[in-house]
This record gives sequence, C-alpha cells and structure tokens, in this order.
Amino acid sequence: MPGFICPVCGDALELIGKSYKCSSNHCYDISRSGYVNLLLSQKSGNHGDDKLMVNARRDFLDKGYYNALRDKITDTVTKFASDGCTVLDAGCGECYYTSHFTESLKQSGINSEVLAVDISKNALAAAKSRSKDIKKAVASIFHLPVADTSCDIVVNVFAPFCREEFDRVLKKGGVYIQIIPLENHLWELKEAVYDIPYKNEVHKYEIEGFELAKCSEIHKTIKLSSCEDIKNLFMMTPYYYKTSEKDFNKLSSFDSLRVSTEFAVLAFRKK
Ligand SMILES: C[S@@+](CC[C@H](N)C(=O)[O-])C[C@H]1O[C@@H](n2cnc3c(N)ncnc32)[C@H](O)[C@@H]1O
Ligand SMILES: [Zn+2]
Repeated sequence: MPGFICPVCGDALELIGKSYKCSSNHCYDISRSGYVNLLLSQKSGNHGDDKLMVNARRDFLDKGYYNALRDKITDTVTKFASDGCTVLDAGCGECYYTSHFTESLKQSGINSEVLAVDISKNALAAAKSRSKDIKKAVASIFHLPVADTSCDIVVNVFAPFCREEFDRVLKKGGVYIQIIPLENHLWELKEAVYDIPYKNEVHKYEIEGFELAKCSEIHKTIKLSSCEDIKNLFMMTPYYYKTSEKDFNKLSSFDSLRVSTEFAVLAFRKK
C-alpha cells in the first residue's frame, strides 16, 4: 500500500527500523513521539497549533462533547472505505478523529493504510498515545508528502483547504471528506466574548472537479459544565488567535454554558 514519499526527490519512502529511507538514501528518523518530520523547512521552528491549543483541544475532545461529530466522521469514512484502501487525514491535530475511524476500519475488517499529516509537531507529539496503527508525519497540507493518485480517501476536519493538493493525491473516484462549521456554530460562545458576534459564512457545498456524494448535518446543543471546558472550546477555534486577552477573560465569569454546535460532514467524489 502506498505511504509517504520523500519530500526532496519524491520517491517512495520505505520504513526500515525506526527510519524512513528513499532509493536516493534520503533518511528521516521517527521521533520518540512516533512521527516523522517531512517538512523541508526544518529550521524555521514550530508551525501550526501550539502546545496550549493542542492541550485545550485534547482535554475538550476527551470529555466527549463532540462524540456525535466523531461518530458521524467515523461512519462516513467507514462507509466509503474498502479493503486495501489508503486514507489520509490532512491536518489531523492530535489524531482524535483519526484514531476513531482507524479503529472502526479495523473492527469492520477493512484492511487499510492510515496516514496522518499536520504541520504542528506539538499536535503529533500529543497523538502518540492515540493509535499505533496510524503513520504520522509533520508536513504541510499545501505540499502533501504522498504520491499523485495514491489515496482513496482524504479527510479534513477543520483544517486548511487546498483543492489542488487534495485533487492531486486522490485517485479518480476517491473521496474527499470535509467537516465544516455551519452558520450558528458556537453562537453563544461568541455572544459571551464579543459585543457584536457574527454568524459563520457557509459556502455552497461545491468543489471544482468533485461531486457531492453525501451530506449530513449535525445540530446539537451541548452543555459545557466548567469554566475550563468553556475556555478550552474557545481555544480550539480560529477566533482565539484574533481575540484580545480582555475579551477572552470575559469567559472567566462563566461556570457553565449551553452552546449550539452545527457541523456539515460532506463527502465529495473526485470526478
Ligand atoms: C482546528 S485544528 C483541527 C485538528 C483536527 N483535525 C481536529 O479536528 O481535532 C487545525 C489543524 O490544522 C493544522 N494546520 C494548520 N495549518 C496547516 C498546514 N498548512 N498544513 C498542515 N496542517 C496545518 C494545525 O496545526 C491544527 O492541528
Ligand atoms: Zn529522496
């Protein structure tokens, strides 16, 4: 089954002991945390989500608040998977959803290769305990370390979108599964922080070169039962980057909050 390719020469990487090697002898060691760094700009430090954000997401997700979404993603991946398939989670974070669908594929007797890529070393280090069956690499969604037409399924849960790369790596007839927030997602959380909150903009469910094969929406109110959970949820969102400390600290006055969650789980088939 196809796996990662060398970011320097593009040849297939073979796992030899604790290193990946290509035919030109470019070598990439697997870190103690279980991932391989295939990012070419190794020197430019840390990218993507920092430790604080990763820990906030891990603690929040582990409390089960997003179980409905997790189960829908797992069902969708399992529905489109077939024996011998390669599944890539692009922007996998700490592999919360990845590990669940990997386990489901295994339980369903579907032999598969699951690859996971994220630009954040912190996220992949936190993924260590999730599953041993996932091959994890630090890499960018905008330069995926997998060969052309090598993937049957690409999954993207709230991560950056790169149509060209997803199109390149998917086989014809392969499926791109995308999770997006809908209009009122986290409305009450935004109301708690901003004087004038805005609804999310939702684009048409269309991607050039793909056709919509399945669409499910989840609308669910969750009750956050501590200030820590409320802050952790906010830190998982892109708003966190853009919000002042003063506004973020408004959340300190809450010890519980009912919040609307709304997602679309979309499966697009490559034409
Ligand atoms: C909102 S998080 C979602 C993580 C995971 N899919 C989940 O839902 O638990 C977005 C993730 O995308 C990663 N990311 C951001 N830019 C990226 C890029 N250019 N290439 C790969 N990953 C990226 C971040 O490090 C982060 O882990
Ligand atoms: Zn090479």
